[in-house]
Amino acid sequence: VSDLQTQELSLQIDRVGSEGQGVGADSQGNVYFVAGSVPGDKVRVLYRPTPRPVKYRDAELVAIEAPSASRHPSACQYFPECGGCDWLNWDYAEQLKAKESIVTHSLSKLGWVPQVRLPIVPAEQVLGYRTRIQVSRDGDRLGFYRRGTRSVVNVDHCAIARPELNALMTELRQEPNSGRAREELFIDTSGKAHRRSIDMYGLDFAQIHEAQNEKLRKMVADLIGQSQARTIIELFCGNGNLTFAYGERAEKIWAVDSSQRSIERANQAALAKGWERKAEFQVRNVGYALRHRLPAELSNSYDTLVLDPPRQGIGDSLREWVSKNLKNIFYVSCSPITFAQDITHIRDLYSLKSLQTIDMFPQTRHVEVVGWLQRHS
Ligand SMILES: C[S@@+](CC[C@H](N)C(=O)[O-])C[C@H]1O[C@@H](n2cnc3c(N)ncnc32)[C@H](O)[C@@H]1O
Repeated sequence: VSDLQTQELSLQIDRVGSEGQGVGADSQGNVYFVAGSVPGDKVRVLYRPTPRPVKYRDAELVAIEAPSASRHPSACQYFPECGGCDWLNWDYAEQLKAKESIVTHSLSKLGWVPQVRLPIVPAEQVLGYRTRIQVSRDGDRLGFYRRGTRSVVNVDHCAIARPELNALMTELRQEPNSGRAREELFIDTSGKAHRRSIDMYGLDFAQIHEAQNEKLRKMVADLIGQSQARTIIELFCGNGNLTFAYGERAEKIWAVDSSQRSIERANQAALAKGWERKAEFQVRNVGYALRHRLPAELSNSYDTLVLDPPRQGIGDSLREWVSKNLKNIFYVSCSPITFAQDITHIRDLYSLKSLQTIDMFPQTRHVEVVGWLQRHS
């Protein structure tokens, strides 16, 4: 790359951007987003000047000239080459502050300020917590994708995976190897480790941090309890992880997810609890027209909506789900950016009564939020 195409610059990183990158400004006030840096770092970066001046640009980290005082030696020898973690060499207390600030920025960009903002719920277990990992094989290499690529880094031990999964990974390493393959290793409810291949249909969803998931379930159940919800529609319900936490006091629940395997699990659990009459779990794709295909009696008679969509969110079809009787919405999201965009589609009808962040993914830039929206009276 010639000097004409790129330029180097030293920068002081002073905050975290909404994608978890470090952010710093030059003396003219131009802002640079630098993946791999954290607040407090002094870094050397490479950027590509544009014909017309732009205020915000991405820059590539060349070197850390002076590391932030809150960095420490990484708990993992494969970091940062392995792309699984973002912040393995950064103090956990700083990670939590950064996650709060990612949420604040995502919301304030669209003018949202919750009436009540509860402090982030930290994890006690910040290493060795993952109950599911996706491992890749390429010839005699077994591990995870190299940061930003699909090539495989050979990894003997994953610092954030549960010990049972690391033991299973050691076993897999003994097997004769054959080309490229991907598998999921996971721990079942009895604590036993298993493997399964990742087929073209993908995998059914399950939360990955047991202790944090219990806190999330309790948080959602407490909020829904406070709202006096009686009749509930839940979109993206998965295996009923949240449903079975909040459902005790509800009169009627209609819950959907596109995963057949997840809905089968939810139905088995409903049967075991004797909930067949009050909770109905169905395989449905939450799309633009789903609500219009529902019997009117169902779609107008619920007072509460619970949703926990994947990262892409629900989009403007959130508006389709709000009938005049719908008093409360509980929106659980792993992307504060799409959460803020989605709720903006119903801003004229609902206010953000409370918002809380919970750390489901220590050592990574990912954040989970739980928002309670209430219909204007
Ligand atoms: C973040 S998970 C939430 C699952 C559940 N609440 C839990 O805590 O385990 C998102 C769920 O959305 C489902 N999903 C993704 N796209 C969907 C769609 N278009 N319609 C219905 N469900 C969908 C996935 O199968 C997954 O179970």
